[in-house]
Parts: sequence; C-alpha cells; structure tokens
Amino acid sequence: MRVDIMTLFPEAVAASLKISILGRAEKKGILDIRCVQIRDYTDNKQQQVDDYPYGGGWGCVMMAQPLKSCLDAVCADAGERRRRVIYLSPQGKPFDQAAARRLAGEYDHLVLVCGHYEGVDERFIEQCVDEELSLGDFVLTGGEIAAMAVTDAVCRLIPGVLSDEECFTGESHWDGLLEYPQYTRPETWEGREVPEVLRGGNDAQIRRWRRKKMLERTMDKRPDLWEKAELSPEDRELEAEIRKDRSRLQLTGAVECRPVREEDAEAVELLFRQARNYLRRHRVDQWQGDYPARQEVLEDMERGEGYVMTYEGRVAGYFCLSSRPEEGYTAITDGKWRREGPYCVIHRSCVGAEYRGTGMADRMFRSAEDLTLAMGISDLRVDTHRHNEAMKALLKRRGFQYRGNVLVEVGPGSDPRRQAFEKVL
Ligand SMILES: C[S@@+](CC[C@H](N)C(=O)[O-])C[C@H]1O[C@@H](n2cnc3c(N)ncnc32)[C@H](O)[C@@H]1O
Repeated sequence: MRVDIMTLFPEAVAASLKISILGRAEKKGILDIRCVQIRDYTDNKQQQVDDYPYGGGWGCVMMAQPLKSCLDAVCADAGERRRRVIYLSPQGKPFDQAAARRLAGEYDHLVLVCGHYEGVDERFIEQCVDEELSLGDFVLTGGEIAAMAVTDAVCRLIPGVLSDEECFTGESHWDGLLEYPQYTRPETWEGREVPEVLRGGNDAQIRRWRRKKMLERTMDKRPDLWEKAELSPEDRELEAEIRKDRSRLQLTGAVECRPVREEDAEAVELLFRQARNYLRRHRVDQWQGDYPARQEVLEDMERGEGYVMTYEGRVAGYFCLSSRPEEGYTAITDGKWRREGPYCVIHRSCVGAEYRGTGMADRMFRSAEDLTLAMGISDLRVDTHRHNEAMKALLKRRGFQYRGNVLVEVGPGSDPRRQAFEKVL
C-alpha cells in the first residue's frame, strides 16, 4: 500500500507515521508512506499557497493550483494503481472501521489531502477529490491529524503489517462490537485482581467470557452499535445470560453487619437451608446433614461470635467469627499456616439465595476482616470443602491463600476433610 499525504507540515506527519509498527512495515517494504510538501508546487515566487476568500470573510483559503500540481506529481510518480484521492474535511463522511477496511481492501494507493486555514478552494475538491472523510463532528486546524488517523487505521489492516490477522479481527468495531477488557501483569494491582477465568487456562471458558464481555460492553457503552449488531445464536444465549445477571438485586440500600439476636434464628435457619440446597445442587458434600442449625446460632450468640448481614433491615447473611483456636487446624497437612500467633476463624458463613451474585458475600467477608482487626488480630482463617467452588472463588477474590488440608468434625457421618485458607490482614 502506498500512501501520499499532501500537507504543509510533512515533517510533523512523518514523525508519527515512520515509527513503531508502521515504521517497521515500511522497512519491510509492505508500506510506502510519503509526506509531500504542497508548498513545493506553487507557481509563484513567494511560494504562497493560500489567499483571501472571494466574497470576503475570515481567514484564507488554500489555492487550487498548488494542490493540483502536487497531486499530478504524486500520481505521475506512483503510476497506474487502484488510487483513491481523499480530502480530509469536517464536512466528509465520518471515518470508521468499515471505511478503513474498504480502503485497505479496494485500493493500493491513497492520496490524502490536508487542508489548512479556512479550507481549500471548492473547485479543487470538485475536480480532483474522490471522497471526503471526517474524523468526527468537530473542527481541527488542519487535516494532518485526520490523515494520520486514516493512514494508521488503514495500514494496520494491510496483510503483514501486524504479526497475525487475529490482532485486528477480534478488536473493537471489527464485527460491530467493542472489544473485551484486557489485562496484563501483575495479577493483583492496587487490590484489583485479573478475572479468575483468564488465569485458569481453559480456552473455551476464556473465549465465552470474552464474547460475553464484548456484548455487555457494546450494550452499555454504545447502544447505537448494539442496535445494529448482528448476533449469532450463541450471542443470543449470552445476551439472555447478561439480562438474567442484571435482573439480580442491586445492593443500593443499606447493608449492615451486627451481632446476631435470638429473634434472627429463624431467618438464619432459612439461610442454612438455602445454602444446603445450593451445595446439594452443585454436588458438594458439605452441610448435607443436620449441621448447621438453630442450636449453633444460639451458641454462637451466647459466645458473642455470631453476626448477621442485613439488607435494609432484613437478614441477608450469617457468619460466626471466633478467636478461639480451632482444634482441627493444628494438624494441617500438605502445607502450613503462615502465622503462628492468635487468629480468627470464620465458620458457618452463608448468604441468602436472592443475595447470591450481588456482592453481599464480599461485604460479609470485609466485615469479618474489619472485626478481626478490631480485636487486634491480623490473621484470618477459614476452611471449605474442596468442591465448594463458589466459596473458593470468593476466598481468592478476597485475597485468601490456600495453606493445606485440615480435618474438621461437624457431626457423625459427614466427611471431615477440608481445604484451609488464610489471609494476613
Ligand atoms: C479549520 S478547518 C476548515 C473548516 C471549514 N472552514 C469548515 O467550516 O468546514 C481546516 C482544515 O482542517 C481539516 N479538518 C478540520 N476538521 C476536520 C475533521 N473533523 N476531519 C477531517 N479534517 C478536518 C480540513 O482539512 C480543513 O480543510
């Protein structure tokens, strides 16, 4: 692809187009980008390129003659090619990815004409220009920035400029959608983690997650594109999933953490039942007997260790926070605790079914962390069943680390094997 940019400021344009990816592609001979000084083609001694507008008015207008002479020289030099002469103008059709694809696919010589001052003599546009392109509905002082944008967007689509076609086919605007969010190292930055699915290495899951994010982002950020988007049957399924996720409760009201009271026992028992059903549905052999029940709640309350999370006054979650050493934690296997000193343990944590996926569980763990610190303790521990993926995802999000395996007896007939996690606060 050859691109000639006709401008009054060739050095400024060349400085940004002859570097990085485009610069390397030019060295390889895939691109040929030339910045041509219009002033070199004037037929007057003063090298004047502009003059006052007929009819009066503000500013100056670029004369047709230097532009036409410059264009003729460029065309003669380039010879017969699939050529397109484009005038960058705020009156042109807004430039977009579809235009970039069209120009990259249909032509091998672009001549980009940059106006300045009040613009260019209309007769040059009528006689020599194939199309006008605008960078957007605003006015720049010159066409250079627009020409650079067009050159960059078109040239990166030319085969061989980017290392792989995938570099641009998954990007924003390729198929009418915006791209998914991108992350790089480190895994945790200022307390924000890279989404777990991207770290898991499961290609199918990653692909699905990314597609869902593309749909979600386009829906939110660009409703105009979303309206026109062509969705596959899989996209429709993902769209339905997004709408379902969104119909979940949004925690816009007051969330509080307070010590459990006797009158909360029934509501907490309901939370236990919902958690038991959830675990059974997910084939997790945890809490499948009588434990936990009202008795544990009342005992937690007497010891001052039971807490409820409330949403607008209603019981939404429960946990026990104990600073008493947990017998089963002493004999940890396949690893060890990071800290030796005093620690708190979270037991019996659960949130109500309608609060799943709302951030309530995160709020609950944050409250447990705050309560631990308020006791002057900075080591917080918890254990869970090895198949309890929801709990493990929550622990990971909250910065807990897997420490090893422990045995926790919670009644006859239940499997005591648990994975142990710790967070140093
Ligand atoms: C100050 S502008 C002239 C604007 C012109 N008087 C008008 O109102 O349509 C000077 C030059 O900047 C360039 N330019 C300004 N805004 C642009 C835009 N949105 N897209 C592309 N080029 C633009 C054009 O080449 C134009 O000739």
